[in-house]
Amino acid sequence: MAQKPPACTLQPECVQQLLVCSQEAKKSAYCPYSHFPVGAALLTQEGRIFKGKGRVSLCRPDWKCSGTSLAHCSLKPLSSSDPSVLASQVAGTTGCNIENACYPLGICAERTAIQKAVSEGYKDFKAIAIASDMQDDFISPCGACRQVMREFGTNWPVYMTKPDGTYVVMTVQELLPSSFGPEDLQKTQ
Ligand code: THU
Repeated sequence: MAQKPPACTLQPECVQQLLVCSQEAKKSAYCPYSHFPVGAALLTQEGRIFKGKGRVSLCRPDWKCSGTSLAHCSLKPLSSSDPSVLASQVAGTTGCNIENACYPLGICAERTAIQKAVSEGYKDFKAIAIASDMQDDFISPCGACRQVMREFGTNWPVYMTKPDGTYVVMTVQELLPSSFGPEDLQKTQ
């Protein structure tokens, strides 16, 4: 059976911006045990990834993000091209891995980003980008993160990147087929 196209495909400028944000988020990784820093950046359906003096729209509200249509993503001029300034504007929707001396308590970058976003009132996600230091491999989310992504929909894109800015993109559905989700809990009545 043919895969459904993702609900929304981002234009390259949006992807690059999200990717830069994930790379910048990686710099905050707390990973003294694995020495494997990871960063993630989430884009919400509202088109917001910025945080600074209030929230600033990244993409136009007239995005058509259903079916096969592409996102009409137009970037507002950034107040700075400096990645660290840019990242400080998206603090609410980025995340890094945070490890703990009690190893199982560590949390991945993707879940940090999602938990931060949900706790700030955003749970309709348009895309997530993930960055690591692996030069030759695209960072791929762990099973737990895939399940947490799936809670918020199956048909949104995950951009798995390399430090050189290249990426592969798959939907949550492709990363976690035959999944269990919130809808299933309604099926026993
Ligand atoms: N990690 C992430 O944060 N995201 C991934 O997609 C894969 C792994 C973290 C967890 C742990 O802190 C370190 O990378 C090594 O597994």
